[in-house]
Amino acid sequence: MIDLHSHILPGIDDGAPDLGVALEMARIAVANGVVVQACTPHIFPGLFDNSGPQIRLAAQELQRHLDERGIPLRLVTGADVHVVPNMVKGLQAGEILSLADTRYVLVEPPHHVAPPRLEHFFFELLVAGYVPILTHPERLTWIETRYETIVQLFRAGVWMQVTAGALTGAFGRRPKYWAERMLSEALVHILASDAHGARRRPPDLAEGRAAAAKWLGEEEAEQLVSLRPRAILENAAPSAVRAPAGASSMSPEFGKPGLEPEIRSADSRFPWLGARNSGKPQAGRNNESSLSAWFGRFF
Ligand SMILES: [Fe+2]
Repeated sequence: MIDLHSHILPGIDDGAPDLGVALEMARIAVANGVVVQACTPHIFPGLFDNSGPQIRLAAQELQRHLDERGIPLRLVTGADVHVVPNMVKGLQAGEILSLADTRYVLVEPPHHVAPPRLEHFFFELLVAGYVPILTHPERLTWIETRYETIVQLFRAGVWMQVTAGALTGAFGRRPKYWAERMLSEALVHILASDAHGARRRPPDLAEGRAAAAKWLGEEEAEQLVSLRPRAILENAAPSAVRAPAGASSMSPEFGKPGLEPEIRSADSRFPWLGARNSGKPQAGRNNESSLSAWFGRFF
């Protein structure tokens, strides 16, 4: 498996506090079956002022420690980038890192408020040839009232990363509900651990994969944790990557009291299936006016 979201680099954000914990996290990841681990510390101006060069150095250093101890885990760099102004400039200047220097970049929106002009933020990234991957939509509190925004972003070409622990219930009932709903509606591209420690929020991708496989099947589970992540590392064009597949039946969670049981029929749930790949931006394309028209269809 390939885990594309973790806070394993020691001492630079709210993840691993020191090398000991980072090594323990690496051992847990390997025991989970992870062979490539992306180091994606927060970039959050004023709170976690990490920069591209610092992250690269810290990852090199941790890789050296892993190699010395014979821990078979390959690290790649990235960042969990908060919605910041001038993100494209930051990426182009190397201050902000995409995943393994590909077109794919993790983006973390604010947890409690959907920022105004969020779609324009993503539009700028898409126009510049990047593929934003929205991290843990299932844990954003505003998903409760703005689910349609998430769906529209998906349809416009933004990729979605759900947290493995959300599927196992580690974040409570609401994130579990949204994670399952998004998976069943074929809105999720990848699962990742978003690990922050060895005990609290550990690298638990295997459990997440098993939870997904139970009702999406082995094939889509493999896409979520291995095949699409590999395509990302290979910088594949999004149009060349297999689109997410949904579930033919719902998780038993959907029927439980207090959760929204009303899921539309399969046909109306997937109106965009079959057509969505054709409209995605290609790498290096900068035709802003045609992209603007295309993006405008969704907002
Ligand atoms: Fe994160």
